[in-house]
Amino acid sequence: MGLIHEIDYGTKPGTATRLVHVNIDGQSIAVPEGTSVMRAAMELGTQIPKLCATDMLDSFGSCRLCLVEIEGRAGTPASCTTPVAEGMVVHTQNAKLAKLRRGVMELYISDHPLDCLTCSANGDCELQDAAGAVGLREVRYGYDGENHLDSVKDVSNPYFQFDPAKCIVCSRCVRACEEVQGTFALTIEGSGFNSKVSPGIGESFFDSECVSCGACVQACPTATLMEKSVIEIGQPEHSQVTTCAYCGVGCTFKAEMRGEEVVRMVPYKDGKANHGHSCVKGRFAWGYATHKDRITKPMIRAKITDPWREVSWDEAIAHTAAEFKRIQAKYGTDSIGGITSSRCTNEETFLVQKLVRAGFGNNNVDTCARVCHSPTGYGLKNTFGTSAGTQDFDSVDQADVILVIGANPTDGHPVFASRMKKRLREGAKLIVVDPRRIDLVRTPHVKADYHLPLRPGTNVAVINALAHVIVSEGLVDEAFVRERCDMADFAEWAAFITEEQNSPEAVSALCGVPADLIRKAARLYATGGNGAIYYGLGVTEHSQGSTTVIAIANLAMATGNIGRPGVGVNPLRGQNNVQGSCDMGSFPHEFSGYRHVSDDATRQMFEAVWNVPLSGEPGLRIPNMLDAAVSGTFMGLYIQGEDIVQSDPDTKHITAGLAAMECVVVQDLFLNETANFAHVFLPGSTFLEKDGTFTNAERRIQRVRKVMAPKNGYGDWEVTQLLANALGMHMHYAHPSEIMDEIAQLTPTFAGVSYAALDRLGSIQWPCNEQMPEGTPTMHVGHFVIGKGKFIITDYVATDERTGPRFPLLLTTGRILSQYNVGAQTRRTENKLWHEEDLLEIHPHDAENRGIKNGDWVKLASRAGETTLRAKITDRMALGVVYTTFHHPETQANVITTDFSDWATNCPEYKVTAVQISPSNGPTDWQVKYQHLSGQARRIAVAGAAE
Ligand code: SF4
Ligand code: SF4
Ligand code: SF4
Ligand code: FES
Repeated sequence: MGLIHEIDYGTKPGTATRLVHVNIDGQSIAVPEGTSVMRAAMELGTQIPKLCATDMLDSFGSCRLCLVEIEGRAGTPASCTTPVAEGMVVHTQNAKLAKLRRGVMELYISDHPLDCLTCSANGDCELQDAAGAVGLREVRYGYDGENHLDSVKDVSNPYFQFDPAKCIVCSRCVRACEEVQGTFALTIEGSGFNSKVSPGIGESFFDSECVSCGACVQACPTATLMEKSVIEIGQPEHSQVTTCAYCGVGCTFKAEMRGEEVVRMVPYKDGKANHGHSCVKGRFAWGYATHKDRITKPMIRAKITDPWREVSWDEAIAHTAAEFKRIQAKYGTDSIGGITSSRCTNEETFLVQKLVRAGFGNNNVDTCARVCHSPTGYGLKNTFGTSAGTQDFDSVDQADVILVIGANPTDGHPVFASRMKKRLREGAKLIVVDPRRIDLVRTPHVKADYHLPLRPGTNVAVINALAHVIVSEGLVDEAFVRERCDMADFAEWAAFITEEQNSPEAVSALCGVPADLIRKAARLYATGGNGAIYYGLGVTEHSQGSTTVIAIANLAMATGNIGRPGVGVNPLRGQNNVQGSCDMGSFPHEFSGYRHVSDDATRQMFEAVWNVPLSGEPGLRIPNMLDAAVSGTFMGLYIQGEDIVQSDPDTKHITAGLAAMECVVVQDLFLNETANFAHVFLPGSTFLEKDGTFTNAERRIQRVRKVMAPKNGYGDWEVTQLLANALGMHMHYAHPSEIMDEIAQLTPTFAGVSYAALDRLGSIQWPCNEQMPEGTPTMHVGHFVIGKGKFIITDYVATDERTGPRFPLLLTTGRILSQYNVGAQTRRTENKLWHEEDLLEIHPHDAENRGIKNGDWVKLASRAGETTLRAKITDRMALGVVYTTFHHPETQANVITTDFSDWATNCPEYKVTAVQISPSNGPTDWQVKYQHLSGQARRIAVAGAAE
């Protein structure tokens, strides 16, 4: 396949329903009212030369290259800013226009370094193309006049450079940063000849507000803003459409290649989740795929205190299978299990759970979603009937009030955040419920109408109070509730929610939010038009995570905000395929499609296809596997793409469990923290090295396409298949598409999904079946999947994790834009430049009371353990609350967190830990040592730190 070239129509498509008929150069076309003349011409296949126009941006009309003549109108209007009109007759090519365009081009070219042959954009430059299109042959002004050719390059950004000598001041970059990204980092400084693009007076790109999303680089028609990888490697020569492997937004990219080397990842305009936008991770942070730390050979060792020994794949697989068989013979069928990965494809996840259920003969399979969004599955299934968000991302364009709870979209889900900010700039209202003043509360041209800075752990109380106001002030959408919901449940819930204990005045003292603020926010959400709720791990990672999800669902049902575009309950899923790993049956009690293993009809369906009897008993969850290991009944674990030592709570518990097992198998890209406790290491493959699908937060199933051979020799699905066969199963998939066919056969919500359908439609949002053959953008239209929506009572129960004299502050945790979860990938890219260490954010008064200054080392201690990190004093924090990220292993954030978890799903309570902070002289000896350790020494260090 060659390079995929996407057509640039110059301006955005018209959205009106009324069609307008125009004639362009003798050809007729009907286009929606409001379409530009330039776009209408492009749709006819007529290219009008352009420089400042591009279809990702609003038209601007500055370069004057796209001039046309319109019969009956004076002059030569710019086609990019002129909308079509009924009966309009347009001429795009004649001698007069050609002369005018050449004149414009002459001015640009006279102030341009004519180094086309050696320029990194040679062959991919719109200025070069435009010069050719207008037939420029000479520059009458010469090249000796005043010019910008000596301007200094800004190479401060690790991924792209800015070479002002090549800038034509078309403002596409400035507008991309404003309109697409919403960061407003760039301006045009000066005027006339002195105009120049600037990331802030005297600032470099790196030091500016720029968040390295790459939108300006993509928009730039010249080599002014250019990826350093293109400068170093050269222009790509073929490309493939694939899906980002970082977060649950699921951006589509063109992987542009030279041979087997990625030159750049370019966001794909046809991507339904991102519409051509990206963030710094997906756009630039793919270098980990070829990082020197990658392990590409299998390794085994008899004891975890032994050194690793490289072996062949055959030996590693045979050894693993023999060990698992030995363990089961000695300790019983239930003594082994597996953990699936939300980083791997649907097909890979499906195979791991199949291996466990059909090969191991038990249901001991769990997933890292256990530690993030398992409450979402529980809460939404019990209220609406489906364990997933209700909308597509496009829905936010029709939202009037956006309620963000426990999510930080500008850092965690940046491409969706840009979309949300655009809607907010258009006038939608915003309510933020978060202990921290996240960026959305006040960002360029966006300001939250209400910020409810609640105390961590009081989500249920605050949402109940919002519902209390809605019910007691008569703001319920009664028609919706009567028609769509179970009225008996509603009556019971309404009686509960109107109790005085749920009033804003009653909860204000415990949640720390003024009652008046809660009342105003409730009224706005209930009466402001389409109300859309977006939430994240700040909702789920609590002892009442499932209750909070249910409370959110109650709120949406009570106000009729379900079942149409612009509304809904939208969990912002963390990892790229966390939705998919749950859909694929990764939990110990559910087959794919969320069907309980005890359901005879479902089990029989799987038994018929897999040709083995299956257990109807739910298996062990991750924490229970580790408990069983310590008590001597669970001895073997296959972990695909998951670092439980670093990402799961209570490190001591994890390491004790792993250390007690006889065969821990880790399949990953790098020797992660968990691998320190492994007996077998099976090298993993990156998303660039395999075919498959990911499912994003919108339930959107998207293709992942192989662009290079796996460095380790196999895709992860092939490794699982090898292991399955070595254990005596008969697994013979020739391609992941065959696995998807089996998923579709066994999973009603995936019935219509196939690689052929995905290739045809681009992506599919499940459910996809006979009734919805092209998928379902909006869930619960007309009726809930469960039938009548169920209101469930949500008593607020304070977490057992309490502050007191010893631990008076509350710690909460989160992510930042440039890093991703435990940082295994992003720390191995230049993204590390933006976040070299995790910091502890502290309110100025809390810092002052403890004699702590900005940048000081502080000891952070909880009942569970202690660690040391540097302080960042900021009034973003509420008084009494501290915050840190967890991207660096030496921070050991999970040494601090407790083992409290969600009552329904065991999802750990990462977001509330009572702590004390005090000045410290520096990192602990352990932290210093840890940074310089590897392998066995790290294992000892991790275990030691946990004790
Ligand atoms: S990379 Fe993104 S944030 Fe930075 S200047 Fe360009 S558009 Fe703005
Ligand atoms: S940097 Fe590129 S996009 Fe920005 S004004 Fe200059 S030429 Fe246009
Ligand atoms: S928003 Fe998420 S999916 Fe999109 S590029 Fe960034 S990390 Fe990748
Ligand atoms: S492309 Fe129309 S004025 Fe620049």
